[in-house]
Amino acid sequence: MKVTLSVIKADIGGYVGHSDSHPDVLAKASECLAEAKKKGLLIDYHVTKCGDDLQLIMTHKLGVDSDKIHKCAWDTFLAGTEVAKALKLHGAGQDLLSDAFSGNVRGMGPGVAEMEFEERVAETIIILAADKTSAGAWNMPLYKMFADPFNTIGLVIASNMHDGFIFEVHDVKEHKKITFNAPDEIYDLLVFIGAPGRFPVRAVYHRVTQEIAAVSSTQKLSYMAGRYVGKDDPVCIVRSQGQFPAVGEVLEPFTAPILVEGWMRGSHQGPLMPVAVCDSTPGRFDGPPRVTALGFQLSNGRLVGPRDMFADKSFDHARDKANEMADIMRRHGPFEPHRLPLEEMEYTTMPQVMEKVKGRFIDITENYV
Ligand code: F6R
Ligand code: MG
Ligand code: MG
Repeated sequence: MKVTLSVIKADIGGYVGHSDSHPDVLAKASECLAEAKKKGLLIDYHVTKCGDDLQLIMTHKLGVDSDKIHKCAWDTFLAGTEVAKALKLHGAGQDLLSDAFSGNVRGMGPGVAEMEFEERVAETIIILAADKTSAGAWNMPLYKMFADPFNTIGLVIASNMHDGFIFEVHDVKEHKKITFNAPDEIYDLLVFIGAPGRFPVRAVYHRVTQEIAAVSSTQKLSYMAGRYVGKDDPVCIVRSQGQFPAVGEVLEPFTAPILVEGWMRGSHQGPLMPVAVCDSTPGRFDGPPRVTALGFQLSNGRLVGPRDMFADKSFDHARDKANEMADIMRRHGPFEPHRLPLEEMEYTTMPQVMEKVKGRFIDITENYV
């Protein structure tokens, strides 16, 4: 049976500040999706959160980019925003950039990751969600899962994975996309995806079967709104087992925390800490950035689960490491590389400070020619 899995997310209000989501907002979202399931629009749903971001996990038969599903998500975010406004939560409705729905939530603020596939005999799915970071945060984990034999031994010893995977890479600045074959083209691939702010991995496909393996939300709120309005706090769907990486190979990249952009005021680098959903409460300097992983088995579109994959004790060490890395980064205070380069910061006073002091700059060209 063909099923579509849609994960649509938005920050529609933080509790307290930008540190978490309010239970009443989650309850309202569940209520809206229960109604959609009752009407037959959805096969199943699960509502969750990562920090101040709300994720709607939905299964249905309408394919990707369905206006009915996107409208359902949009209306759910609007209903949640009403609750957030009544509670005077912080930034109520902050990711809903438009007042009117026009058929698709793309470009309107929410992040979207969707895939349609023929459900396998056993369809194992991992849904990753992150807070205080941007879409490029999935680049290294996806590379490790689908192209790095030191992470995924299946690439070497499993005959149904040995031919590798196709990476679809987006250029979020020029609005173009390109595909690369792994392992043959990994050096070319890395030139691009090693710059995750500009070239996020949008999707991964199995090379032999052409089946979709992973898809991430690559909406960049800052570019979309024509100004800096927030990091997009992305989501990513990964199919697992069989011809795809095993669950342990999907989760393994997160055992070695990496630095990602998006911490405090969307203007700092910090370690991506794998946590259980209940621990996705970025509190230290509004961080450090968090990632959650929910595991499901699909049964005719029914979401069997979730299992909270990072609740496992074996991620304790990664969390300790991330806290140590957070200490090292915080030591830099307002200096790079903790602070992002000037053009990447979500908050900046540079134009006004430059305007104020520009008359005090003295020309010293002769020193540099
Ligand atoms: C980072 C983040 C927070 C806010 C900060 C200021 O992605 O969400 O660090 O940027 O708390 O928030 P405002 O400007 O809403 O007071
Ligand atoms: Mg927020
Ligand atoms: Mg957030």
